[in-house]
Amino acid sequence: MILVTGGAGFIGSHTCVELLDAGYEIAIIDNFCNSRPEVLDKIRTITKKDFKFYEADLLCREKVEQIFEENKIDAVIHFAGLKAVGESVSMPLEYYNNNITSTLILCQTMAKYGCKKIVFSSSATVYGDPASVPIKEDFPLHTTNPYGATKHMIERILTDLYVSDNEWSIALLRYFNPIGAHESGLIGENPNGIPNNLVPYIARVAVGKLECLSVFGDDYNTPDGTGVRDYIHVVDLSLGHIKAVEKVMATTGAHAYNLGTGTGYSVLDVVKAYEKASGKKVNYKIVDRRPGDIAMCYADPEKSKRELGWEAKFDLERMCKDSWNFTINNM
Ligand code: NAD
Ligand code: UFG
Repeated sequence: MILVTGGAGFIGSHTCVELLDAGYEIAIIDNFCNSRPEVLDKIRTITKKDFKFYEADLLCREKVEQIFEENKIDAVIHFAGLKAVGESVSMPLEYYNNNITSTLILCQTMAKYGCKKIVFSSSATVYGDPASVPIKEDFPLHTTNPYGATKHMIERILTDLYVSDNEWSIALLRYFNPIGAHESGLIGENPNGIPNNLVPYIARVAVGKLECLSVFGDDYNTPDGTGVRDYIHVVDLSLGHIKAVEKVMATTGAHAYNLGTGTGYSVLDVVKAYEKASGKKVNYKIVDRRPGDIAMCYADPEKSKRELGWEAKFDLERMCKDSWNFTINNM
C-alpha cells in the first residue's frame, strides 16, 4: 500500500487517480487545510475504486503511527505542505513547523515501521535564480524565502537520512509549474480567495469572476519581456510520481529529478493559449515586477527521461483546455 500525504490537494488528488488506475492500493492522510472533502468522492467517481482516508494532521505523531500500525505501507508519496511563497514570508514559523516538523515525524515513523521508501514533492524554487536555462539537477541550490527554504532543507534532511542508512530509497521531485486539470473536469486547482498563480488567475478572468490580469513586468530579458516558465500538465506530473514510486520500490539511494516539459512559455504566450482554449477574452495590464520573481525558469528533463523513463506528453493548448473545462464545471 502507498501512503499519500496531502492526497486531497491539487497534485495529490491527480496522483491518487493515477495510482488507483495503475492498480495500487492507497491510503490518504490530509487535514483539509488547503483542500475540500468532496475531492475524495471525485477521486472515487473517476476511478470507480475505493481507498482508506485519514482526516488528520501530519504533525500529530499518534495519528501517523496509527496509520502505519493499521496498514502495511510499502512507500510514501509526501505532498502535504504549505506552498504559498508570499504567505511564507509573513508566517515563517507556520511554514517551518508545518513543512519540516511534519516531515521529521513522518520519516521517524517510517523508520520505526521499517518503511524506507519515499517520494518527496520538491520544487524548482530550490534553484533560485539560475545562472542559465535549461536547469539541470546538479545546478547549485539557493532559496530566498521560507517556503523555498523548507523544500531545500527537507531535501537535505532526506539526503542525510540516506547517508546514515543506505536502505532508504528517496526521490526528490522538483516540479516546475503544474497547471491544467483532469480531463473529467471533476478535479483541478481551485484556490481560496484571489489566486497568486498565473493560470488560476487567468481562469477567473476568462470566466468573468475577476476583471483583469496584472502581468508582473514586461521588461525582463525574455523574448517578449514577460516571465518565462515551464508549465506542465498536472496529469503528466502525476504520471511522473508513478514512475518515481516504481523507481524507489526497485532501488535504494537519494536522487533529485526535474519534472518539467523542457519548454518555456511567457506570460503572454499563456494568455493567448488560454484565450484560444476558452474562446474568451483575457483582459490584462502590464504592472511592476513582482518582488522575488525571476526572468526565466525551465527544466532540462533529460535525467527523468533516462532514469525514470518519464517524459511530459501534454502541450500548453491541452493544459489550457483542461483548465478551462474544470473552470466552467466548478466556478
Ligand atoms: P495543495 O495545497 O493543493 O495540497 C497540499 C495538501 O496537503 C492539501 O490538501 C492540504 O490540506 C494538505 N496538508 C498541508 N499540511 C498538512 C498537514 N500538516 N497535515 C495533513 N495535511 C496537510 O498543494 P499542491 O499544489 O497539490 O502541492 C503539493 C506539494 O507540491 C506541496 O508540497 C507543494 O509545496 C509542492 N509543489 C507545488 C507546486 C505548485 O505549483 N502547485 C510547485 C512545486 C512544488
Ligand atoms: N504572473 C503574472 N501575474 C499573476 C501571476 C503570475 O504576471 O497574477 C507571472 C509571474 O510573474 C511569473 C509567471 O506568471 O512570471 C508564473 O507565476 P506563478 O505565480 O504562477 O508561478 P511561479 O513561477 O512564480 O511559482 C510557482 C509556484 C512556486 C514554485 C515555483 C517553481 O507558485 O511555489 O513555481 O516551481 F516554487
